[in-house]
Amino acid sequence: MPSESPAGEPAPSNGRLPDDAVRVVGSVPFAAYVHVPFCATRCGYCDFNTYTAGELNGATEQQYVGAILAEIELARQVVPHAPPLSSVFFGGGTPTLLRAADQALILRALRESFGLGPEAEITTEANPESVSEAQLVALREAGVNRISFGMQSAVPHVLATLDRTHTPGRVREAVAEARAAGFDNISVDLIYGTPGESLADWRASLDAAVSLEPQHISAYALIVEAGTALARRIDRGELASTDDDDQATKYELAEELLSAAGYEWYEVSNWARSPDLASRHNLAYWKGHHWWGFGPGAHSHVGGVRWWNVRHPRAYAERMAAAESPALAREVLGEPTRQLERLLLEVRLRDGLACQALSPGALVAAASMVREGLLDPAAWESGTVLLTLRGRLLADLVVRRLVVDDDEGMANAEV
Ligand SMILES: C[S@@+](CC[C@H](N)C(=O)[O-])C[C@H]1O[C@@H](n2cnc3c(N)ncnc32)[C@H](O)[C@@H]1O
Ligand code: SF4
Repeated sequence: MPSESPAGEPAPSNGRLPDDAVRVVGSVPFAAYVHVPFCATRCGYCDFNTYTAGELNGATEQQYVGAILAEIELARQVVPHAPPLSSVFFGGGTPTLLRAADQALILRALRESFGLGPEAEITTEANPESVSEAQLVALREAGVNRISFGMQSAVPHVLATLDRTHTPGRVREAVAEARAAGFDNISVDLIYGTPGESLADWRASLDAAVSLEPQHISAYALIVEAGTALARRIDRGELASTDDDDQATKYELAEELLSAAGYEWYEVSNWARSPDLASRHNLAYWKGHHWWGFGPGAHSHVGGVRWWNVRHPRAYAERMAAAESPALAREVLGEPTRQLERLLLEVRLRDGLACQALSPGALVAAASMVREGLLDPAAWESGTVLLTLRGRLLADLVVRRLVVDDDEGMANAEV
C-alpha cells in the first residue's frame, strides 16, 4: 500500500484556517493541485497514493469528481479572497484515466471559483498508454496548456523491470498526438538507476527523450521505497540494489547530454529549454508559495499552515458527502520551520539561495563546502549559495550540512 501520512494536529471539520493564515493569502502566488488517485496497474517502484480498480472498495470516478467539486466550493469559502490561480496541476495516479470531460469540469470549477492568472500554467500528467488523440484535443480545448508524460525509459527491459505497460514507440506517438492537438509545452519524466540498466541503456533513453524535442525533461534517480513490490524483489535477491555511484555517473551523463542538446537545469532533477519553460507549478512548491491540494491524500500549504487529506478515495468521498473538510490533520508552521524548509528547497534551485537566509553556523558550513567544490565560488562571492555539478550529485548531503545549529556548523568547519 502507499506510504503513510505524517502525524500532525487535528484539523477542524469545517476546514477553517487560522485568521493569520487567511490574512496573508494573496501575498504570494496561489496554485491548485488536483490529485487523481487512479491507476490501471501499479508500477512496482511507486508508493504514490493511488489505487487500482480492485483497491477502490466501491469508490467510483463519478463520486470522485463530485467530491472534488465540493472541495473546490469549500476552498472558495475558506479563502474567498485568494488571487487568480497561477498554476493548476492534475497529478496522480493517472489523471488521464479520467474522461477529458471530467478534467474539463474540474478546471471550469476552479476557474469560476478562483479565476486563472493571465499566463496560468495548466498541466496534466499522462501515462503514454492512457491517452487518445481525441482526449488530447479535448484537454487542450478545455484549457490544459502543458502535458507531462511518464516516459521513464526508452529501453524495453528497463520498462519491464519498472512494470511499465507502454512500449517505447507509444511515447513517441503520444508526444506527436499531443503536439498535433496544439500542446506546445511538453515534458517527459525519466528514471535512471533501475536494476539492470546499463550506462548505454541510460544514454539511449536520454537520446530518445531529446529526439522528441520536449520543452522540459525531468530525470529522477530511482528511489526504492519501503513496502513496494520493487523493494521486495530486491530483498529476495531477484534484482540488484540501486547503486549510488552508478546513479551519480548517470546524473553526470544526463547533465552532459541535456545541456549539449540545449536544456538548462533549473532544479536538481529538472531541465528546461529556457527559463520561461521551467515548471511554474513545481517552482511554486519550491519557493514556498500557497497552494490548495484537492483530492484524496493531497497536501496543501496556505499562509504557513500545511494540511493533508484522508488518503482513500472512498473516505474522501464520504467526508465531502457529509459536508466535512477532507483534511486528516494539519501543522501550523512556526517561523524557524518555514525558514528551514525554504533553505531545504531553494538550495536545490539554479537561482540558488541568498546567503542572508543562513544562520551563522550554516554560513561557516557553506564556506567550507565552497572550498570542497560543492558550492559555486563566484555565486558565493556575490552572496548566493549555488550548487556546483558535484554539489548537485550530493545535494542531500549539502542540505544536511547547512541544516545545523551554530555549534555544529562551527564543528563541521573544523573537520
Ligand atoms: C507519481 S508519477 C505520476 C505520473 C504517471 N502516473 C506516470 O507514472 O507516468 C510522477 C513521476 O514520479 C516519478 N517517480 C515515481 N515513483 C518514483 C520512484 N520510486 N523513484 C523515482 N521516481 C519516481 C516518475 O518518473 C513518474 O513519472
Ligand atoms: S502509473 Fe504512475 S502513479 Fe500509477 S503506479 Fe505507475 S508510477 Fe505510480
